[in-house]
Amino acid sequence: MTTSHKNLPSILGIETSCDDTAVAVLQGRQILANVVSSQDEVHNPYGGVVPELASRHHLQNVLPIIDQALKTAEIRLEQLDGIAVTNGPGLVGSLLVGVSVAKALAVAANLPFIGVNHLEGHLLAVQLENKVAFPFLCLLVSGGHTSLYLACDRGKYQLLGATRDDAAGEAFDKAAKMLGLGYPGGRVIDNLARDGNPTAIRFPRAHLKPVLSKAYPEQSRKVEKTGRYDFSFSGLKTALRQFLQGQGHSAYRTEDIAASYQEAIVDMLIERTLQAAQDLHLDQVVVSGGVSANSRLRQRVSEEGERGGLHVYMPSIRLCTDNAAMIAFAGAWRLARGQRSSLDLGAFATLRL
Ligand code: KG4
Ligand code: ZN
Repeated sequence: MTTSHKNLPSILGIETSCDDTAVAVLQGRQILANVVSSQDEVHNPYGGVVPELASRHHLQNVLPIIDQALKTAEIRLEQLDGIAVTNGPGLVGSLLVGVSVAKALAVAANLPFIGVNHLEGHLLAVQLENKVAFPFLCLLVSGGHTSLYLACDRGKYQLLGATRDDAAGEAFDKAAKMLGLGYPGGRVIDNLARDGNPTAIRFPRAHLKPVLSKAYPEQSRKVEKTGRYDFSFSGLKTALRQFLQGQGHSAYRTEDIAASYQEAIVDMLIERTLQAAQDLHLDQVVVSGGVSANSRLRQRVSEEGERGGLHVYMPSIRLCTDNAAMIAFAGAWRLARGQRSSLDLGAFATLRL
């Protein structure tokens, strides 16, 4: 075991909320192991995650991956100080695998354990590499969520806006499916778009009208009256489908279609984010979640944010997409404050931050 941080607590993180089985060991902020076993090849033929297959593969993989992570970290189970496990939101069957194994290990090694909200993991992941002082604005963009949060402090997050339909990652994945590029689509579209012209096709950008509070009870009082920071990607997806069904699409290179489609998503994400930062007088912006691995989003949000006087932070790529280091980190401070989950901890498909 690394000696320099021996006095800092060592936390095992387990993340099985969707299709990646991830296990990490964290000591303080130091990542001793961060293993992610991808199921991309399992789900690729279906163009999306098949929940039943995902949970079955988690079941097969989780124990060997825990062994691998402990070995990489050069630490034994009994030497750990606690276990953090994602218990929502996500696919219930998948979540249950992680939650059950965490409980079993906690009992076997007599360790405290804590359930972690996956979204808090994404939101705090950036802190593993950068000290970003609270408050900050966070654009959380993943396969299941596209939301803007005001992070006031650890554990204190206010939802400012969210997608009214698809998440941005879903919009990438569905486009890749339509273009016959496989699953997951974000990275493939990102790579193709590097050789494409983002202005080749003008796909629509959603400009949303205010909504009434009843439709969005989870949003803050102030924002629920306006819906000002909401997102919508379903119209863009339909526009792509219609474009591909039309006569003219064969005149365009797939690279140009990918770049133009990606540009529309990035435009919508950046517009709302910069607007919120300006309205709320926040000068620190964090972008996190799987879609924050997108090279065009990273480039533009950095450039445009900094031009507007903002400090923009994004995790490194391996901490953008699902990983267990962020879960261990989000669990560690709660464990340090004495918070514990009990053995009746449940797994939840939806879970508010
Ligand atoms: O956070 P994440 O790993 O899992 C969820 O919590 O959903 O996000 C996965 C999403 C997928 O939709 C994937 O296509 C997208 O992140 N993604 C990307 C890129 N890498 C992953 N989207 C755009 N560009 C990328 N480079
Ligand atoms: Zn995620």
